[in-house]
Amino acid sequence: MTALPPRSTFPRGFKFGMATSSYQIEGHGAGGAGPTHWDTFAATPGNVVRAENGARACDHYHLWEQDLDLVAAAGFDIYRFSTSWARVLPEGRGTVNMKGLDFYDRLVDGMLERGLKPAMTLYHWELPAALADKGGWRNRDISRWFADFAQVIAVRLGDRIWSTAPINEPWCVSWLSHFLGHHAPGLRDIRAAARAMHHVLLAHGRATKVLRIAGMKNLGAVCNFETALPADPSPFTQAAAKRYDAIYNRFFIEAMFKGRYPAEALEGLEPYLPEGWEDDFVTIAQPLDWFGVNYYTCKRIAPDDGPWPALQEIPGPLPKTEMGWEIRPEGLTEFLTRIARDYTGKLPLYVTENGMAAPDRLENGACDDQDRIAYYAAHLDACRKAIASGVPLKGYMAWSAMDNYEWALGYAKRFGLIHVDFESLQRTPKASYHAFKQALER
Ligand code: FCB
Repeated sequence: MTALPPRSTFPRGFKFGMATSSYQIEGHGAGGAGPTHWDTFAATPGNVVRAENGARACDHYHLWEQDLDLVAAAGFDIYRFSTSWARVLPEGRGTVNMKGLDFYDRLVDGMLERGLKPAMTLYHWELPAALADKGGWRNRDISRWFADFAQVIAVRLGDRIWSTAPINEPWCVSWLSHFLGHHAPGLRDIRAAARAMHHVLLAHGRATKVLRIAGMKNLGAVCNFETALPADPSPFTQAAAKRYDAIYNRFFIEAMFKGRYPAEALEGLEPYLPEGWEDDFVTIAQPLDWFGVNYYTCKRIAPDDGPWPALQEIPGPLPKTEMGWEIRPEGLTEFLTRIARDYTGKLPLYVTENGMAAPDRLENGACDDQDRIAYYAAHLDACRKAIASGVPLKGYMAWSAMDNYEWALGYAKRFGLIHVDFESLQRTPKASYHAFKQALER
């Protein structure tokens, strides 16, 4: 049996958390939430495994107290959650659904009562369908709609939040959803993708300003990173991996911290960016108080025929998770080191997501997910290596607290430390939960 490195092996004050997101757990059918682009995406044949959606999910909307009890009982310091735009503003703008705001109000108070620090993300992908009708992330106005939403949240919750990030994983919001078409709205269109990439950053900047003016503290950003390993040593292949790296790993952080886009991304995207994009960096590059890194895996990249970015993914040799993602913990050390060196300097870094899907089953009322414990042990070690080399890493959040709606893969991919039976909604802490509990004991 693998154990997790105990709290005492991390610097004093290092914080541990569990992460979730609204649409993946709440049950969006309850409480007067408006329809989102994930509901319509899932209702369209071929987009989501078994056409599953988030209407019921884990019913966290009703069961949140027992969920927070479990997070607190394991000794975590932080609970990372998100607010659903469509729950708070069912039409995306205008009339507030008070029941929705009340829910987040109770949730935040519930965290504080249990000694958990609320780490809030404003947008984890449930775009109100009414705004999708207006072009969603392709429409420049979304940055203002989003800033207005940020204002509503700041007024109601701002006094009790420990940390805030406006948008989870800009790459997924834009490239994955508008170029690769894997996530809602399922577009495969380079112009849509370029615009979404830029507008998501503009929305980040505008919302950050609004939150700051509203007096909120500890504002950051959360981006996802995936090592781009060249599939072979040839110069063409290396150049392809560089393009992948520029689109995935550099585009967003470089805009936020250096006020520019990488040349290797501009070579394909520039013709499609909205007019005047260069002038927006003053808004995009807001001062931040921390930066969050979501890390899961690496990709092997090779060149491909066809238009820019002309690259393909090649299967790699390392052991894989249930998602088919290679397990490469050293990639986390590499990114933390690189991000601090190239972009964030002394700014506190957090791992805001890391974890794995496994084919978990309950046997005699328990789930012995040793593979997940090994994954966490290796990645926590990777964090310690980064810290030892001087990276100001201040905390680590596991994805995810509980099994949930894994987007286009529906409920089949289980990432939780807590097992959820999606029929009975019964929660059962897995062995990985108990391993964290032991490691976090003071
Ligand atoms: C991340 C998402 C999160 C979850 C994990 C597996 O990209 O932020 O919602 O789907 O991947």
